[in-house]
Order: sequence, then C-alpha cells, then structure tokens
Amino acid sequence: MGIRLGPLRAWMVCHLRLVHEMLRDTATFDKGGPLYERLRPLMGDGVVTFPYADHRRQRRLLQPAFRPARVTAHVDAMGEEALSVCRGWRAGRTVDISAAMMTLTTGAVSRVLFSDSLDTARTAEVRDCLTEVVHGLFVRTVVPIDALFRLPTPANRRYRDAVARLHRLVDAAIAERRAGGARDDLLGTLPAEAGCADSAVTDQEVHDQLVSLLLTGAESPSLCLSSAFGLLARHPETEHQLHTEVDTVLAGRERPGPDDLSRLVYTRAVIEETLRHSPPGWLFTRITTRDVEFGGRRLPRGTTVLYSPYLLHHTPASFPEPERFRPERWLCGRSLSGVGDDGPYGPMVPFSAGSRKCLGDSFAMAQTTVALATIARHWRLRHCRDPSRRCVRRSRWDRGRCR
Ligand code: HEM
Repeated sequence: MGIRLGPLRAWMVCHLRLVHEMLRDTATFDKGGPLYERLRPLMGDGVVTFPYADHRRQRRLLQPAFRPARVTAHVDAMGEEALSVCRGWRAGRTVDISAAMMTLTTGAVSRVLFSDSLDTARTAEVRDCLTEVVHGLFVRTVVPIDALFRLPTPANRRYRDAVARLHRLVDAAIAERRAGGARDDLLGTLPAEAGCADSAVTDQEVHDQLVSLLLTGAESPSLCLSSAFGLLARHPETEHQLHTEVDTVLAGRERPGPDDLSRLVYTRAVIEETLRHSPPGWLFTRITTRDVEFGGRRLPRGTTVLYSPYLLHHTPASFPEPERFRPERWLCGRSLSGVGDDGPYGPMVPFSAGSRKCLGDSFAMAQTTVALATIARHWRLRHCRDPSRRCVRRSRWDRGRCR
C-alpha cells in the first residue's frame, strides 16, 4: 500500500508473508528511512542503526551479554530495581507510572552495561536524559522537517542538551573504566579490547553501542510495563488472576528469583498479550538497497518501506477479537518465541524477526515478567479518577490499596 509521510512517499507492507520476507532479506531491505535517519546522529554507528555491511560483526560482539544464561544471572538485580522503585510509593497517592517504569528499566539495563560504575545520581541523570531524548525523537520522527528542529526553541534546546549530557555521561563511564579495574559487564567486555592499539573496537564504537543499548534497553520495556499496568487496571479479573499466581509462586517472598521465572506462567502471558495488544514499537522503516520486485510491484533502490507490528497483531484472522486483552491466548501452546503453533513466521512480531530481531528480547521478557510480578506482589494500580489528568503527557494513575 502506498502512503505519504509529509513530502515522503513510502510503501506499507501489510501482508504477513511479505513482512517476513522483507525482514529476512536484510541485504535488500536495510535499516534506513525516517526513523533511522533521526536515530543515527544520536546512536552513531551502533548495532541498532548500522547498515547491513558491518552488522553481523557488531551483533557477534554484543550477543554474549544477552544470552539466556547471562539474562538469568540478572534476575535478582531486575527484582531489586523493581522493589526499589515501588518501595517509595504510598497508598492512595498518585504515581507517574511512565516515569517510574523508566527509572526501573534504566536501572536494570545500566547494571548490565556498567554494573556499579554508574551511581544512583548518575543513573537518575541518564534516565532524565533518556526521557527527554525519547520524547524529542518521537516528535522528530513524526514531523520530518529538519529545519524546525534547528530553531532555538526551548524544546529543541532541551533535546540537544539531553543528547549532549547523555554522551558526556557515557564518555565519563568509559574513561573511568579504562583508568580503573575490570568488571564483568558489557562495558568490561568491549573496552577490554578498545584500549589496545591493535583492537578492531574503537572507543567511539564502544560509546555508540552503549548509547544504542541504553536507549533501546530502557525505552521499550518501560513502555511495555506502563501499558501492562494500564490494561490490568481496566481488566480486574485478569489482574486478580495475576495476583493469585504471584502470591502462590512467591509465597510471601518480596520478589521472584531466577527459579521462579518458569512458574510465572500467567504473568508472562500478561506481558505477551500486552506486547501483542500494545506493542511498544508500532511502526518501523527499511530502505531498499537495489531495485527489487516485491509483492507484485517494482520498488526502485532507495524506496522507503514500512511494517507495523501493531497492524499484524490486530488482524482478526491471526488474533480473533484483536482489541480484547486476553492473556489466555498465550496459555495454550501459542508462544511468542515461535516454538508454539505459529512457528517462526507467525503474526506476533513485537521484537521483529530475522537477523535484525531485537538483541534484548530474552532480557526484556525476563525483566518485564520480574518487574510485573514484583510490583503486583505489593501494589494494585488504579487509573486516576480525575478525567482531566488523562490528558497530561505522562499518564498518571493513583494506587489503590497496599496489599
Ligand atoms: C519489551 C521490550 C522490547 C521490545 C518490544 C523491543 C522491540 C524491538 C524491535 C521491534 C526491534 C527491531 C526494530 C526494527 O525492525 O527496525 C528491536 C531491535 C533492537 N533491540 Fe529491542 N525491544 C525491547 C527491549 C530491548 C532491550 C531490553 C534491549 C537491550 C538491552 C534491546 C536492544 C535492541 C537492539 C540492540 C536492537 C537492534 C538489533 C539489530 O539491529 O541487530 N531491546 N527491538
């Protein structure tokens, strides 16, 4: 389907088979288009934005930190981050849930990247920068008129300042680590080579990878958790079922440990259904690197092509009554990881597919499941009753009772 994005003409791929075909042919349908053009000045040549040519080498460098065994080792830290965020809440008070989830996810991903090198104050500064940057990026992506963003408006200044501060914080962490001792984290594995003259990994690459992972690792899980709590507040029966499972599995403990993950079946189904119903990334772009025949059309080199996880997740043929929030869909053999009924070419693509599939999918599933269980163990969240509050930029919900 041909569409216009302001001055830009693009093609939207709506058919499931074609989406998978496109996602698997990364040499022809490379990262590019308005979204990635906006991300590149921020993330440089990191794994998220880098074109096909060097992508495989970058992926190999980073993949070990996100293998399932490494992810399991982070489960306790994920639970601690969730506990520390919800410990400060008071019954009956209003909580800015988007900000709280951003704090939680920034803390968790910072530990993987920097372990204890970022103290609480610097992690909070990273979170503030990321929040500003995410907002600015969204505006820049939906309004593709660069001149507007060069104007000296307060919003543009805030965005530029946040980007500059984020880069400074990451540079300082790299410099400190090179001066200090080794640690078993991503920053420890990358610059172990980066400091050496004969290394293929430069300091700039370490920097770009860290900024890329901070942004992707904090934003999407935070959106997923915020949506999950919003949906649960509207579906009390689902919420009740979640609380029953969490209470049974945790049996009085404050948070889940690594062995509990496989027993939090319903909790995981709530996350999976949230990712289906309200995928954090709902539209992505690709750019053709050569003239190609695709879906019965001839697309010249340089054509912008889009796909939407939201669209695929809301197709009735794949998910009957797609607007309904029903975690039960995921309890009968159907699985997001592609081992269930749907197989690897299924309609569920919240993490995309092919060789550019999300690097942090296992990490994200563990993190959001642990965070949801930990918070649900202690709190029940309710939407604010005041309708005027629904219009504020960050959604605000009051918390009901402390359980
Ligand atoms: C619920 C949470 C998450 C969702 C829904 C999500 C979704 C996605 C999607 C859809 C893509 C592909 C984008 C495209 O096709 O253009 C992607 C890529 C990526 N994600 Fe995630 N993500 C999540 C969490 C994370 C986490 C926690 C990390 C790392 C800490 C991460 C790191 C990445 C990276 C590095 C890429 C680029 C992969 C590549 O191009 O090789 N993501 N993610």
